[in-house]
Amino acid sequence: MNKTIAASPQWISLLILLCGWLISRVLSIATVDVLGLDFSPGMLVWCQVSLAVAMTFCLSLPSWWLIINAAFPTAVFYAMALNWPPIVFMVGLLVLLLIYGAVFLTRVPYHPSPSKVHALVEKLVPEGSDQQFLDLGSGMGGMCLHLAVRRPDCKVFGIEMAPLPWLVSWLRARYSFIPCEFVRGDYQNHSLQNYSVIFAYLSPAAMSALWEKACLEMKPGALLVSYEFGILGQSIMPTYSTNKTGAAPLYVWRMGSNSVLTPMRSNTWR
Ligand SMILES: C[S@@+](CC[C@H](N)C(=O)[O-])C[C@H]1O[C@@H](n2cnc3c(N)ncnc32)[C@H](O)[C@@H]1O
Repeated sequence: MNKTIAASPQWISLLILLCGWLISRVLSIATVDVLGLDFSPGMLVWCQVSLAVAMTFCLSLPSWWLIINAAFPTAVFYAMALNWPPIVFMVGLLVLLLIYGAVFLTRVPYHPSPSKVHALVEKLVPEGSDQQFLDLGSGMGGMCLHLAVRRPDCKVFGIEMAPLPWLVSWLRARYSFIPCEFVRGDYQNHSLQNYSVIFAYLSPAAMSALWEKACLEMKPGALLVSYEFGILGQSIMPTYSTNKTGAAPLYVWRMGSNSVLTPMRSNTWR
């Protein structure tokens, strides 16, 4: 796959969907003029989906984009057939943008980590009142709130870029009187040096940059924990796997004294 396409499949897909929509409209006008054949709305969508799938295939985008680019025009077609008032779609779009709008830049969608993972991460935080924990991309705050309740000796922070999940997490902490701090912002601009445990549940696209930042900023002995995603291009083995229970692995590394991450043995904390 071409480097530009690999780096920004979301923008390429948007372009594919627009081209599919445009070409299918031009084709429908041409067939009326030349053949006197009028496309039904269903035929128009079918044409649009076929074009989008063909372009996605030709550009060798990963297979899940085939599903996304086929499903999107179909979903829009059926949603329009519901004949709901436009305000419903407007509100829906706004809510989705407030939760997922940054995905076009970060390629990390919101998805909460399971409570089983919260319980495992809780065991990783060392004893002592000087411990500081950070959730990178804290979403609606599930991980931080769990930890702040279970480990009152630890200072818990979350940083989140998306406005709506951040607001929900802030309200949850404020109105349940749980002492954890949620900051709205980009973790790429936030220093990692003061934390003893940093948790990340991001996406494969974010892991290389996180690795570089962690190596530069995290202090020796601090733990980097990633749920589900390893670090691409680095031969780091998962230290704990929850595969037996059907869940994704949890990766744990302890920062080495020379800024090299070394895997932590699972039996030291299980
Ligand atoms: C998979 S969710 C994980 C949510 C939460 N950590 C949990 O375990 O439930 C990833 C979150 O990271 C946020 N995110 C992605 N990139 C970010 C960035 N550069 N700065 C801050 N938040 C980011 C997304 O908005 C999303 O809410």
